[in-house]
Amino acid sequence: MKPQPSANPSILMEKLVSLCKRRGFIYQSSEIYGGWNGFWDYGPLGAELKRNLRDAWWKQVVHWREDVVGLDASIIMHPAIWKASGHVDTFNDPMHSCPACKKLTRADQILNIAQEQKWYSSLSQTLTKNGLDVPKLQKWLQREAQSQLPNLLAISGPEFSVEFAAKTIVTLAQQITPFDLLRLLACPPGENPNSVTPCPHCGAPLPPARPFNLMLRTHTGPIADDSNLTYLRPETAQAIFAQFKNVYDSSRVKVPFGIAQIGKAFRNEITPRNFTFRSREFEQMELEFFIRPDEATELLTGKLTHYSPELDLTEPQPDWAWDVWHHYWVRQRILFFQTLGLHEGQHLELYWQKPDELAHYAKATVDILFRFPFGTEELEGIAARGDFDLSQHQLHSGKSLEIFEEELKIKAASLPESDRQKFKDKVIQNWGNSGKSAEQAAAFCDKLFTGCYIPHVIEPSLGLDRLALAVLSAAYAEDTVPDAKGNPETRTVLRLHPSIAPIKCAVLPLLKNKPELVAEARRVFLLLRQHLVVEYDEAGAIGRRYRRQDEIGTPFCVTIDFDTIGENGREKKGTVTVRNRDTLKQERIPINQLVPYLLERIAIAPNQNS
Ligand code: GAP
Repeated sequence: MKPQPSANPSILMEKLVSLCKRRGFIYQSSEIYGGWNGFWDYGPLGAELKRNLRDAWWKQVVHWREDVVGLDASIIMHPAIWKASGHVDTFNDPMHSCPACKKLTRADQILNIAQEQKWYSSLSQTLTKNGLDVPKLQKWLQREAQSQLPNLLAISGPEFSVEFAAKTIVTLAQQITPFDLLRLLACPPGENPNSVTPCPHCGAPLPPARPFNLMLRTHTGPIADDSNLTYLRPETAQAIFAQFKNVYDSSRVKVPFGIAQIGKAFRNEITPRNFTFRSREFEQMELEFFIRPDEATELLTGKLTHYSPELDLTEPQPDWAWDVWHHYWVRQRILFFQTLGLHEGQHLELYWQKPDELAHYAKATVDILFRFPFGTEELEGIAARGDFDLSQHQLHSGKSLEIFEEELKIKAASLPESDRQKFKDKVIQNWGNSGKSAEQAAAFCDKLFTGCYIPHVIEPSLGLDRLALAVLSAAYAEDTVPDAKGNPETRTVLRLHPSIAPIKCAVLPLLKNKPELVAEARRVFLLLRQHLVVEYDEAGAIGRRYRRQDEIGTPFCVTIDFDTIGENGREKKGTVTVRNRDTLKQERIPINQLVPYLLERIAIAPNQNS
């Protein structure tokens, strides 16, 4: 799904990227060597933020549920896994390779990339309501195009005529975009401009797109030949399918249940872009939630409930069909984002993929889109993948990935033969409607009557780096607050949810040169450090220290002042002020109540997840 990004990268994005570097959230990989495109490093605060996001996901998806267990699989696996999953043959993006400037461009991103180029906005100024401003275009060709699009036919080919382009635009009699105009400027007279795709980097006509496999390759062992070719995993999901039977046999799980994994994934993206949004190395947080095929549910419970908007999705029910499970997981994921301060409507949108957009294995897919500064784009995908993955691995490995349910066998045996036949006839008819043979349907039912089936799966799949970028961009704000003297001052603040803020609390002695204040502040710092990620800071004026903590998203600042050490009497001795980053309110709290005070305000309560 490709929603349109905003025409220019926003100023907010520039500010965010700059803050991320300045404060140690995210750096360009290998920066001292000029950087390495598509790779990013997380600095001290970024590492904490990612860790908090990982923990929040793991807690809510694994620890707070009784029906999900975890897995931590290797990145490099048997290459047959990627053949079975379809990645070797079909994990491709269409790519144009420019014969002139040698740059590679993903075919479906040409327009987005063109919009990000300098020439785009200047070319748009040559288009008027009535068509083309020819003198302006001529100037543009002599200046901008000469330097930015040197291989454009209109400047490199003598046969091109600006008058022809102007006439064509007039005859089109409709609003055309700067990219349509570029097509005209790249098109030899007499040819159809729609058949020309100009390179957004140099203007040369591009040859047709070719499929490009996105998996990163390597070799295992000392000899780098085809027999040792392996892949860095492009998703964490396949390891879950490959280890499904081991997990099922070695844990006390019963369908419906899920296996979750967090880990690195690698894709040789043709055009990594938008900061960390599309990277070549990234981290995924994936859940494969295994459910009964609808036929098994119906056989076991005697009914099958399909989704309707009034259905209560709070507690899973045994008669839920796959589409209800799918909706259930969409809701669970929205609740998860809510706990991090990302809300549907304000930050998130749901996009239900249309039938022609679905991957061949998916019965339905919902994209949870986030309003990034550069456009509304996918944050998480939730796909109903049927039994595609387990069936493929069963087929390719020759190992059974079916499971056995005694209850199902007993239930089938308790039915009269005529009811079993009726059940079978219904399945044959239903499967026939989706193009499957009567023999396949009958064989499936015979298996089911013995208690055996291959589970189906619902897969919520979230990118950790995209989540980090989403929470950072949602949190970024500039507001006006009073400085130490009460004068208005602009501050940059990251309004991160306290549970994911890298530093939970800063401990600040009012003055650095007062040993009693410093000693007490160190004592409070060492106390808090046992429970929270805390920072001690004594450098500079208190106002400047607050601003720095605001900018890195620290939700609380604890200040040790003269009241704390009893210089102003006994009444407030042993108390500190706690400043709230968002409300700017300061509360006086006894030191012995600080830990519960802060923990209560930082935690995500488990009951928020239902
Ligand atoms: N197992 C299903 C799967 O991998 P996907 O839509 O290709 O599906 C899932 O990826 C999520 O992984 C995306 O929604 C996104 O958050 C993240 N992701 C995918 N490609 C990425 C990239 N190149 N850079 C950063 N995150 C990426």
